[in-house]
Amino acid sequence: MFLRIFCFTVLSSLLAPEVLAQRPRAHEKLYTQHCATCHGADGAGGQGLSLVDDIWTHGSDDASIARVIAQGAAEGAMPAYGDVLTDDQIRSLVVMIRELRNRPRFDAAKLEAAGTDGRYSSRLADFTLTEVYATPGVLWGLDFLPDERMILSSRSGRIVITDGHTETVIRGTPAVHDEGDIGMLDLRLHPDYANNGWVYVAANVDGDPHTDDRRAMTEIIRARIRDGRWVDEERIFRARPEHRAMARQRLGSRFLFHEGYLFFSIGDGGPEDQPSQHLDAPIGKTYRIYDDGRIPPDNPFVGHDQPDVYEAIWTYGNRNVQGFAVQPSSGLLFASEHGPRGGDELNILKPGANYGWPLVTYGIHYNGEPISALQRMEGVEDVVLQWTPSIAVCDIHFYTGDDFPAWRGDLLVTALGREHLRRLRFEGTQVVEQELLISDIGRVRTISIGPDGALYLVTNHRGNDPRSQVFRMDPAD
Ligand code: HEC
Repeated sequence: MFLRIFCFTVLSSLLAPEVLAQRPRAHEKLYTQHCATCHGADGAGGQGLSLVDDIWTHGSDDASIARVIAQGAAEGAMPAYGDVLTDDQIRSLVVMIRELRNRPRFDAAKLEAAGTDGRYSSRLADFTLTEVYATPGVLWGLDFLPDERMILSSRSGRIVITDGHTETVIRGTPAVHDEGDIGMLDLRLHPDYANNGWVYVAANVDGDPHTDDRRAMTEIIRARIRDGRWVDEERIFRARPEHRAMARQRLGSRFLFHEGYLFFSIGDGGPEDQPSQHLDAPIGKTYRIYDDGRIPPDNPFVGHDQPDVYEAIWTYGNRNVQGFAVQPSSGLLFASEHGPRGGDELNILKPGANYGWPLVTYGIHYNGEPISALQRMEGVEDVVLQWTPSIAVCDIHFYTGDDFPAWRGDLLVTALGREHLRRLRFEGTQVVEQELLISDIGRVRTISIGPDGALYLVTNHRGNDPRSQVFRMDPAD
């Protein structure tokens, strides 16, 4: 069966329902108290007062909506709230209006994108999904050995090599804190693996294995695999001991080997008062190092005046980078970044640049409390694109393969919270189209290219299924 096409140009998703259900919702109370009488509980209003019909008399961008709320309109028929509500509260209401707007639309789109018999139809290509591997737990990184078998990391610290039928669990891998969203994260092979055998993992390891110190921090580790064992281990990036205590969550890490460097990310570690803005703290950053951990002399903060700067830092003020990809047409390095509630971001990373977290964000706290009224700031890089409500953006990949010629140059984006894969088309660095390709296959964690040139997806926990799965995407005949 062929499915209808949809393609959203701007915002097309909503907050994970489980998050909505659990938490107190301060801005929803604000909305009920001040706005629902005229605009309706669901924003649909009536008498032309709908906030969810895509018709914006006073401008559709966030700033214009915030201005109407602050200053009022139609000679007071829309009251001015500038004296009643703070800028931060008005910001929360803008996010809520976006959520009200996109929820029904997103749910409808998800139904449309669900495949029948593993067959999917989209605007430019039809394809199938085939499960090639499944295992309990949370799979994270995926790469391919020269003999074409898969090598996969799990958050529990397990590393397996498999052809989909038989699997080898590697012995002696680092012990990790597997807790919440931390544990063993990305895994990548050295681009010259065939000759040097290096395997890289990002792992949240014990504070001190000799005590019961359970503090976590992301370390970048490489080792070789010999006779099914993890050997020759080297820890090529580790934070200073005093920074180990800082965080127990959101320490996400993704790898990219590019132009002889290894790029990786470390998330902000949780509370918003953590120093993502400080160059002498390891969290909320992206990094660039050589494959053996040495720091390239032209890194932006090498020789910085301030003492104790982490000279491996490439960019800062990054909340939780979950994907890296280089745009083939421009050579620019893109990164996806998890926002809080709302405000997932796609950014272009420039050496030494500040991405603003937590001073500047399109998102709000999960409980509806504001974080910052600022979405732009002098000295902070603007986003290429932001998603509000959040999709829980994860891995990204610029497609250059042969299976789907019509997608060449497009960015494929995976989402955890909204459990989907979407395709973004660019003109230069502007996103001109978004299309949902797949939905409801579980939390789509990772996207990789196989030795056969095919696209592979790693998904976690589809519905109540405790397993993770790996799917291959093939063109449908
Ligand atoms: C007393 C009724 C009333 C209340 C209360 C009210 N509004 Fe309005 N609102 C209106 C009317 C009427 C308009 C249309 C104004 C116009 O046509 O220019 C409007 C317009 C708007 C617009 C602009 C829509 C557009 O098309 O550009 C926004 C945004 C908005 N309201 C948000 C809010 C929010 C948020 C609240 C609560 C803080 C709120 N309103 C409370 C009556 C109300």
